[in-house]
Amino acid sequence: MKILILPDPAAATATCVALIVESLIENPKAVLGLATGGTMEPVYAGLLKRARAGDVLLDRMTSFNLDEYVGLPPEHPQSYHSFMRERLFAPLGLDPARTHLPRGDAEDPAAEAARYDAAITQAGGIDLQLLGIGGNGHIGFNEPSSSLASPTRVKTLTCATREANARFFGPDEAVPRFAITMGIATILRSRHAVLLATGAAKAAAVATMAEGPLSARCPASALQLHPKATIVLDAEAAADLELRQYYETVHPQGQEVTLG
Ligand code: PGA
Repeated sequence: MKILILPDPAAATATCVALIVESLIENPKAVLGLATGGTMEPVYAGLLKRARAGDVLLDRMTSFNLDEYVGLPPEHPQSYHSFMRERLFAPLGLDPARTHLPRGDAEDPAAEAARYDAAITQAGGIDLQLLGIGGNGHIGFNEPSSSLASPTRVKTLTCATREANARFFGPDEAVPRFAITMGIATILRSRHAVLLATGAAKAAAVATMAEGPLSARCPASALQLHPKATIVLDAEAAADLELRQYYETVHPQGQEVTLG
């Protein structure tokens, strides 16, 4: 794992945006794995800014989002389809045929999950997979106890996740109980995984992911098996890392250091 520790959330977000931009400059037809959640909002705002400044083009990339709530149609305001449409796809006028999310309103969610996994393979696999992390160590909606070899499938959300995500829903709206999520095996097949975590609420999960045992108790710990995982943190999210000083020596201020 490459662990980059930046001083604050803005710097961590900018580093994450820069990794996406670099990947698209290297290959404008890259297949991106996208994530949702509060941590990703400034990432998409930053990407939009870079695209509008002419630093990068997104119109030839293909994207696959990590997950979607079961039962929510794409037009539902709290669906991840809406999240992505509002924050990235519509402002850039991207062709909907290139931007994929699982259909939460599919009649047979299990079949939809299998179709989605196959579509990722058919697109050539994911070049760069963007990830957040839940306070309980989930990636995508792979909750604790998820098989570390799981494909895309339907998962039941934990109470902790439903409570954490209730802030996106109205007071009278129930957070869905199920989601279709890329599996851990699907995520591990990506050629580069980039996980962004900011804030003190993520510190314990980040330490368990990077330094704890490889365990379904913390699904993000599966990234220890990923051949190329970059973990981008702000100082607060890095606070519980035992080897923090080492990571900061390897990458001072979260920067690459040339050998020699
Ligand atoms: P958050 O969610 O960015 O809203 O904290 C991250 C996640 O649950 O993966």
